[in-house]
Amino acid sequence: MMFTKVEHQRNGLDLIKIDNDETKIVFTNYGARIVTWKYEDNIIVLGNVVEADEFYQDNPYYFGASVGRYAGRIADGKFTLDGQTYQLEQNDPPNHLHGGSNGIDHRYFDYEIIDENGGYIQIIFTTVIKEADDHYPGDIKLKIVHTYDIDNRWTIEYYAESDQTTLFNPTNHVYFNLNRDNKEVDNHYFTSEKLGMHLLNEQNLPDARTPLDLVDLFDKHKIRLTEIFESEAPQLKAQIDKYNGLDHPFSIGEELVIENSQFLLKMQTDMPNVVVFTFNDTSEWDSDMNIYKPHSGFTLEAQSLPNDINIQGKDAPSILQNDRAFYSRTTYQIIEKL
Ligand code: GAL
Repeated sequence: MMFTKVEHQRNGLDLIKIDNDETKIVFTNYGARIVTWKYEDNIIVLGNVVEADEFYQDNPYYFGASVGRYAGRIADGKFTLDGQTYQLEQNDPPNHLHGGSNGIDHRYFDYEIIDENGGYIQIIFTTVIKEADDHYPGDIKLKIVHTYDIDNRWTIEYYAESDQTTLFNPTNHVYFNLNRDNKEVDNHYFTSEKLGMHLLNEQNLPDARTPLDLVDLFDKHKIRLTEIFESEAPQLKAQIDKYNGLDHPFSIGEELVIENSQFLLKMQTDMPNVVVFTFNDTSEWDSDMNIYKPHSGFTLEAQSLPNDINIQGKDAPSILQNDRAFYSRTTYQIIEKL
């Protein structure tokens, strides 16, 4: 049995709570975000369901948020499209990050819940991103659909249309932690057919270099985060030391599996890359609600390569033509090991 309940908090923030006995998952209209995901009594994502209305307004870490219109960094906040150059807000100096300070993570979406007593429940979030909001060309009609099913699978689908050719590269910024009590995530294993890590330059951006092949470097497909963090391989060590962990785009195979001793988390996406950020610095938020230690979560942000427009030019996957509809799908499934 699956059921859903809506709780209205202050400031117009609604919590949409879905329960299928074994697991519970909660979304909110504020940033079309995931607020919590619980397997029995184990919370597997970072968030705050109790004081969501206060917690999410100030939290600078994009917990569970839909991010856009362009998720990754854009070098110097500048790009050229169809011969015209655009200057965006440099909110992560000198770069533009997560669609700027007026990105979709801070907005209230309209929503509709679809529950036909089937094996799934859907929440359809809609909004319009205006050119005036973020200074990219074009107004985008955006629909983000979160679906949760009886097999403990969370699916995110993006549908978008723009009235001018623009950039569109959304993601969800959920932080996972499969350990009890948010014990640091270094014990998690990452497995995929391919694990190509795109190294970052001085400006914290990937470039056109071929990614570092971790499958080749470790000579296996299943790699523990500690192995990455403690590696003496010069290129890898330099990056881990600089960032105090991962903040890197990966090229993966068909599926990415993350596990600890209790759970498997399976991710699939049609986006070209996945940014893994291991929450390396948690000191930025001066608040009683900031109870987070470095490495208390990791993101799996499906998106195209940050700054792709300045690397791949007219072949950048993030270009959305005005006469095309955008669709993308990412799934995360939680499975308890027997
Ligand atoms: C990540 C980004 C990090 C950090 C984080 C938000 O996606 O790559 O550098 O800004 O978001 O705290």
